[in-house]
Amino acid sequence: MTILITGGTVVNASGPIPADVLVEGETIAGMAARGSSVAESWRAGAERVIDAAGAYVVPGGIDGHTHMEMPFGGTHSVDTFETGTRAAAFGGTTTIIDFAIQSKGRSLREGLDAWHAKADGRCAIDYGFHMIVSDVNESSLKEMDLVVDEGVTSFKLFMAYPGVFYSTDGEILQAMQQASNNGATIMMHAENGIAIDVLVAQALARGEGDPKFHGLTRPALFEGEATHRAIQLARVAGSPLYIVHLSAAEALNEVLGARDRGANVFAETCPQYLFLSDADLAREGFEGAKFVCSPPLRPEVTHADLWRGLRTDDLSVVSTDHCPFCFKEQKELGLGDFSKIPNGIPGVEHRMDLIFQGVDQGEISLARWVEVTSTTPARLFGLFPKKGVVAPGADADLVIYDPEATQTLSASTHHMNVDYSAYEGMTIKGRVTTVLSRGVVIIEQEAYVGRAGSGRFLERGLNGLLR
Ligand code: URP
Ligand code: ZN
Ligand code: ZN
Repeated sequence: MTILITGGTVVNASGPIPADVLVEGETIAGMAARGSSVAESWRAGAERVIDAAGAYVVPGGIDGHTHMEMPFGGTHSVDTFETGTRAAAFGGTTTIIDFAIQSKGRSLREGLDAWHAKADGRCAIDYGFHMIVSDVNESSLKEMDLVVDEGVTSFKLFMAYPGVFYSTDGEILQAMQQASNNGATIMMHAENGIAIDVLVAQALARGEGDPKFHGLTRPALFEGEATHRAIQLARVAGSPLYIVHLSAAEALNEVLGARDRGANVFAETCPQYLFLSDADLAREGFEGAKFVCSPPLRPEVTHADLWRGLRTDDLSVVSTDHCPFCFKEQKELGLGDFSKIPNGIPGVEHRMDLIFQGVDQGEISLARWVEVTSTTPARLFGLFPKKGVVAPGADADLVIYDPEATQTLSASTHHMNVDYSAYEGMTIKGRVTTVLSRGVVIIEQEAYVGRAGSGRFLERGLNGLLR
């Protein structure tokens, strides 16, 4: 199918330009100045012309941090690869990178095969995997090299969740040494889980079981301390480091200092840390459970620090850490004991829209919006230039975005398979109107017209910011 997208403003990380985009089959065949004779000649040959007048044409969003069907806290996150990728598409995300899990006592191979089985034939958009390493030993270290060869080029380790995903500093150092040899990037959940568990036990012993104590027992200082430690370990090992879901100024300062010294340290934040706060965790009754995630939501003053980090590139990426648990029966597992509330917030559908508010409110430029939601994740996670850019030869993953539309976020209208919205009632500017995934229109006129299973597994390359 040949599609011409005409009349729009193409926005890449390099800035906006008025241009028409020709799509042939799965890829972008060309871009031409609006109204030029070249663009007019394309119109005659196009099987379909999409009018993007007044809209932005941007590369499809890449959400580098999702958890579909993730076993956690005695239950599972409720979006399947089918429902979660469809919801992502509604919000202008055309690629996700989910976390395959190596369980304790099992191999990386088993974990990766299990995630392939969950995703294969079900996704609405393209997808890749990172691998969570929760059992560092001689054989899993060797297996890291094998999965890198299969296009899984990043590994998440945890300084938090003792007894579940937690690794000691020695284990982390070994995984980083392995990565420094095979070129992979180490992703870190940087919170001091051992110290947190002491605070949690003390709080529960005092009868402090409400959701707000989840935040109070995971202080920002422990995130800053763990981030510092992760950076020093990575510097010694010589591996690239990517701090996931950074929430606190204390952690940001560590990243900023390391980057200033030239270390290969990168970080992402998530919309929940830019728009929600500890006041949400402290909502009446058990409502705060809807906002339990780790690291926890921080005081509202942190929002300005994080927006600044996004402007200065000390925060290079916005991912969602989409990990949806229903309020009924799942979050409710922690009634009276916050430590039993499954950790995670739904958000894969709203990332592009929420970060666009930063453009509307003057926090970041239009180009930076595209950079942090698409181009940098593509480069960092080895997907560029097939993904993350509107350019000839790239996959035709394209989003047509109306900057003047408004919408109100709500569980009654969202497409994620979860019974609440963390952003219930929030009215925002901007909206996705049309989405193409590798040249096929999958969202149009607010409807999904794609097909489960059309999304392909992406074998990723190494960190493109370093080569
Ligand atoms: O609360 C969170 N972040 N849940 C998902 C698991 C993780 O640590 O990313
Ligand atoms: Zn984490
Ligand atoms: Zn996560």
